[in-house]
Amino acid sequence: MGTLANKRILLGVSGGIAAYKSADTVRRLREIGAEVRVIMTRGAESFITPLTLQAVSGRPVYRQLLDTDPGLKPAGAGAEAGMGHIELARWADAVLVAPASANFLARLAQGRANDLLTAVCLATEAPVAVAPAMNQQMWNNAATKTNLATLQKNGVRIFGPGEGSQACGEVGPGRMLEPADLASLTSELFTSGVLDGLNVVITAGPTWEALDPVRGLSNRSSGKMGYALATAAMEAGARVILVSGPTSLPDPERVLTLRVESAQEMHDAVHTHVPTANIFIGVAAVADYRPATRATEKIKKSGEKMTLELARNPDILASVAALKPAPYTVGFAAETEHVEQNARRKLEDKKIDLVAANRVGADLGIESDDNSLLLIDRRDATTLPAQPKTRLARSLIQHIAERYHAERGTQNTRRAHRR
Ligand code: CTP
Repeated sequence: MGTLANKRILLGVSGGIAAYKSADTVRRLREIGAEVRVIMTRGAESFITPLTLQAVSGRPVYRQLLDTDPGLKPAGAGAEAGMGHIELARWADAVLVAPASANFLARLAQGRANDLLTAVCLATEAPVAVAPAMNQQMWNNAATKTNLATLQKNGVRIFGPGEGSQACGEVGPGRMLEPADLASLTSELFTSGVLDGLNVVITAGPTWEALDPVRGLSNRSSGKMGYALATAAMEAGARVILVSGPTSLPDPERVLTLRVESAQEMHDAVHTHVPTANIFIGVAAVADYRPATRATEKIKKSGEKMTLELARNPDILASVAALKPAPYTVGFAAETEHVEQNARRKLEDKKIDLVAANRVGADLGIESDDNSLLLIDRRDATTLPAQPKTRLARSLIQHIAERYHAERGTQNTRRAHRR
């Protein structure tokens, strides 16, 4: 069974007898780490109550496209209940519609948006999967087959259906897959395989440059972007080593996380592991300087002014890019102005392969959950628009994988030429 840790799954429930299994589907998704919200169609409410799904998901259940009646909102749901279809579409990392009735599949195939669930499916950039459940004659009908072919062409994933005895007494294809299988298949939506078999080393978080046993220099990097990239790279099939400065984040699942404090420790840990890495991504906000001396006892105050002497830290990213052979090396540039110009300079100065640049300040960047990135290499520049860091991380890993695979054959010649 895969994991859905940190994933937001929107479960759509359409009308059909299999809707009674939705409570179990919610439970199975949550068991493997997902945060789940539920959208019900009107038809679904004939088979299972919103209250049941609210209780198992721990969230209000969404039912109306245009919900102007506050009386419809579950008690205690607060502003969450007011989430519109666009917000829900953005919120989701994946949409799973289970059960998906023949009618729902037809509406989805036609691109209709005449209820909340179809509107969200149309508006989301997240992967959409459907678990068909219907009578075997309906499943075998040519119209249903055409709709499924359209959905598949449009990138919708089809889970099942299984075969067996049906609620109507017939036997054949059309049974919804079991909730545990649906949860497992949903987790596979996040495993792309684009980095299968590759070793990736990532740095993340701030560094802590000790001044004395209790004080030090650091910065406000949360580590979220580096951790999200570590998870995205792992999901893409890589063996990931995350070298992290001090953060409050838990170790990402199935990633080897090495905790360090100072830039020097981060440098040493990176160089222990990077010789076998195919890709190195420097996301850490490494302190450029450290106190020149570290007091063994707490420094006592004295006088009105105090001067600190700082010494330069090693540049981890540049040192990795200078290795021969070097892994495909990606750096980050957080800039407050002239983003593209400064980022290009970093690309050239540090001789790295790709730089991911972002503007910091105004709710975007260093501490926030949302971020946008400008990706620059020697070929071109690509913009990844503002989105939650987990999703952004997947897009960035996809981009890195494409460039890595495209350049691998020419890398040696290009590197020789560049130096
Ligand atoms: N980096 C590093 N080691 C350092 C400093 C930075 O590996 N000692 C990496 C970061 O992980 C990031 C990139 O280099 O990928 C950031 O580049 P840098 O030029 O150090 O950024 P700033 O510190 O913002 O630089 P400047 O103050 O010159 O703008």
